[in-house]
Amino acid sequence: KIIILDFGSQFTQLIARRVRELSIYCEIHPFNHLPEFDASVKGIILSGSPYSVRQTDAPHFDFTPFHGKLPVLGVCYGAQFLAHHSGGEVLASSTREYGRAHLQYINSDNPLLKLIPANSQVWMSHGDTIASIADDFEVIASTDSVKVAAYQIKGTQTYGIQFHPEVTHSIDGKQLLQNFLVDICGCQQDWTADSFVETTIAELKEKLGDDQVVLGLSGGVDSSVAAVLLHHAIGKNLHCIFVDNGLLRKDEFQSVLDSYQHMGLNVKGVDAKQRFYDALGGLSDPEKKRKAIGRVFIEVFDDEAHRIENVKWLGQGTIYPDVIESVSVKGPSATIKSHHNVGGLPDFMKLKVVEPLNTLFKDEVRKVGKALEIDPNILGRHPFPGPGLAIRILGEITPEKVAILQEADAIYINNLRSAGVYDQVWQAGAIFLPVQSVGVMGDERTYENVICLRAVESLDGMTADWCHLPYNLLGKISNEIINNVKGINRVVYDISSKPPATIEWE
Ligand code: XMP
Repeated sequence: KIIILDFGSQFTQLIARRVRELSIYCEIHPFNHLPEFDASVKGIILSGSPYSVRQTDAPHFDFTPFHGKLPVLGVCYGAQFLAHHSGGEVLASSTREYGRAHLQYINSDNPLLKLIPANSQVWMSHGDTIASIADDFEVIASTDSVKVAAYQIKGTQTYGIQFHPEVTHSIDGKQLLQNFLVDICGCQQDWTADSFVETTIAELKEKLGDDQVVLGLSGGVDSSVAAVLLHHAIGKNLHCIFVDNGLLRKDEFQSVLDSYQHMGLNVKGVDAKQRFYDALGGLSDPEKKRKAIGRVFIEVFDDEAHRIENVKWLGQGTIYPDVIESVSVKGPSATIKSHHNVGGLPDFMKLKVVEPLNTLFKDEVRKVGKALEIDPNILGRHPFPGPGLAIRILGEITPEKVAILQEADAIYINNLRSAGVYDQVWQAGAIFLPVQSVGVMGDERTYENVICLRAVESLDGMTADWCHLPYNLLGKISNEIINNVKGINRVVYDISSKPPATIEWE
């Protein structure tokens, strides 16, 4: 594997993605919390950073243990860090170097630059520049304005590059990473979805033996893939619980339950609708609604978990972005997670935790799901918030409002599917607004509620743009909702992006 030491750059996760796209396994670790460097580690990549090496509180670590022993590739800050601490000089650039540049000089005999043509376009993003280097450094690539765009420390497999190979604007960035990882580090490109499935199932078998595991399914991609992996490893000893909180999409509980059963999972569907509606009664504050739903879910799940004898483990669909420790520059103590006080927790939370997906990014989870032949309808589904329709009904929840929203939402989503746009949209849903407005239907005056349609494009939900759905499609959906859903006489479309709006309305 490859270790990526993170100095806090926004690009660190992207480096990891690129390494994995080359079918090589890598892990991100904060620079101030070093992992164990056993024989499985074939090389190290040092990330960029928002800091300058010239700042007194800049991230610092002792690289002497690796120097000359393992191949190292410093990227941006990583390159400046190595240069600065090896007798070179790093200064502020006269102009901030940002954007496209071209490697006018390339030492094409250098293994790092194999097959990279002269003049190759690279992406720069830095405020500092390496002004001079120590005698044992050799410049292997330069641009017009950056002499030390890439270097090697002579007689070692330590390299530094000032540009960002992980960004697609660096046209030959992938080739450079491949040169480093395969030729210099000697990595095999054998980390694929199929190999992940095979090794993970074997590891789970070994780890869990004959133990019983309980896992909560949500209908989403992560918990479904985690369940199928565990099922392949331990079969009926995996007990899945799928709770109907009364806040799912129309008919979703039954159809998802059917597909889980079809996959052979040992799954129990629990109808807890009324418990959730009771807990939500009278609440209109979004955070209070979220808390109530979280609390009832834990109670219901705990009750169900107690029905399983001898359960030892809690299975979870946690994925890698949730476990990557973020870099803290305030010293090592700040990165250590606080331990939960187990005293007051429900019993299932005291179980040992097994998280088979905690090394994977979201797109990798989907690939693993595909390798496991999971229903494409489950793998391709839009994200759906845990509190479900409760945060898409503004204000107080009643079963009647849920039923109205489910009908409108089903018309919306079915139309997105039949128009062939569902897969281009990252997330879509209907929202029940607490607004009544006047309408006419036939000769009658109506005074009914408004449904808002929301559809966004996004990569990870952190930022989002509203989708430019075709007018004729929006018109068709609006007509169908108003003609078929009693209680709705007006449909609007949300044209706000995130930020400053959020995806959900609550
Ligand atoms: P926002 O509304 O913050 O949503 O732009 C970003 C993403 O998070 C989802 N979301 C939630 N998911 N529990 C969840 O499990 C929640 O309370 C919650 N609130 C928002 C939202 O659907 C979107 O994908």
